[in-house]
Amino acid sequence: MSEYPHGDRSWWQEARFGMFIHWGLYAMPARHEWIRNYEHISNEDYQKYFDRFDPDMYNPAEWARMARAAGMKYVVFTAKHHEGFCMWDSKYTDYKVTNTPCGRDLLRELLEAFRAEGIRTGLYYSLIDWHHPEFTVDDYHPLRDVAEENERNKSRDMSKYAEYMHNQVTELLTEYGKIDVIWFDFSYPQSERGKGHNDWKSEDLIKLIRKLQPDILIDDRLDLPGSADFQSPEQYVPSNGIRNEKGELLPWEGCQTFSGSWGYHRDESSWKNNKMLVEILIRNVSRGGNLLMNVGPTARGYLDHRAVAALDGYAEWMKYHARSIYGCTLAPAEFPEPENCRYTYNPKTNRLYLHLLVWPFKFIHLPNLAGKVEYVQLLTDGSEILFRDSSTAVHMNESAPAGAVSLDLPPIQPNTEIPVIEIFLK
Ligand code: GLC
Repeated sequence: MSEYPHGDRSWWQEARFGMFIHWGLYAMPARHEWIRNYEHISNEDYQKYFDRFDPDMYNPAEWARMARAAGMKYVVFTAKHHEGFCMWDSKYTDYKVTNTPCGRDLLRELLEAFRAEGIRTGLYYSLIDWHHPEFTVDDYHPLRDVAEENERNKSRDMSKYAEYMHNQVTELLTEYGKIDVIWFDFSYPQSERGKGHNDWKSEDLIKLIRKLQPDILIDDRLDLPGSADFQSPEQYVPSNGIRNEKGELLPWEGCQTFSGSWGYHRDESSWKNNKMLVEILIRNVSRGGNLLMNVGPTARGYLDHRAVAALDGYAEWMKYHARSIYGCTLAPAEFPEPENCRYTYNPKTNRLYLHLLVWPFKFIHLPNLAGKVEYVQLLTDGSEILFRDSSTAVHMNESAPAGAVSLDLPPIQPNTEIPVIEIFLK
């Protein structure tokens, strides 16, 4: 495996929590960002959205305020998704936001707004492009079933598409200030008529990016082993983190949605509740990962009430518990998690955070911590939690297993989705 230089992951591992934004023309049909694929839509039939794209209520400063309140420290915005539509004023295409009724460079405005809130900025750039004339029709392409379009592949030239991509990436990384993350999506060399690093010219692309922005973080979807700054598991929490063949933990970021689709989907009813959302964040950090949580703004440019409620849920929880997230990672292996609990650990402060997914009755026993604990408090309100290194069973005391520390908890769960107990280790 060849080795590639890496970007600056220190701020990112400290931050742990970011906002993904999927926004493009697909917000108008509002039934999934893959709509062109699902419904086999040609460029001509998709044009009606381009001709009417006009997010009159777009106010990225508001999104940035909500992201900050939710505790999110960075944003990754779809500069271009698979549909090929560009959210910035690119000089390499006419298929861009400034040529729609909107007429503004939405990307530029977004970056300014988020930076003003102290939020780091990243760009999502789709490797796949269903609009570009040189992009060959493959098994994901909206026109995969049209015989003439498949026939026409003979005269399509992917190297011209790669050149277009490299030009656009250069444009984005030179004309929009410092970009902290670039998130490519995605390669599929395994599938029939798939595409991978040869199509994207990934090797050259990586070199180009490192030259333009040496500190930038690059995801793992360029089909170029060794080049990624982080792994990007999607819509699940890896139970043991993401590890290499030797079992060592790799930097990783899980990405997740509130409701299933990434783009705005009006009629989806599979929205996760606030407790699940908080739990996903905790689970990621407890396995040494980040969480990039997605919002899909509406065609008019605002976040709908369900997205706002979900972000508010994060804001409410993070207000009291951010300390168990920022700068935290998985706990030392010698401390196994009790049932229904997740630990996170801050190596700088040497504090262990116990997240109680289910509130226990009266006691909880923490294996292998006897003699190692200095002080314990409920992070939610800073109230002391009494603890014992061992206890003998009398009628009001459950006896703790040898070597465990027993915490004495109030009978009623504190008023928060997932309470956190902060353990100061010796
Ligand atoms: C997928 C999808 C896509 C989404 C992405 C986010 O690979 O193609 O729609 O943007 O996941 O991770």
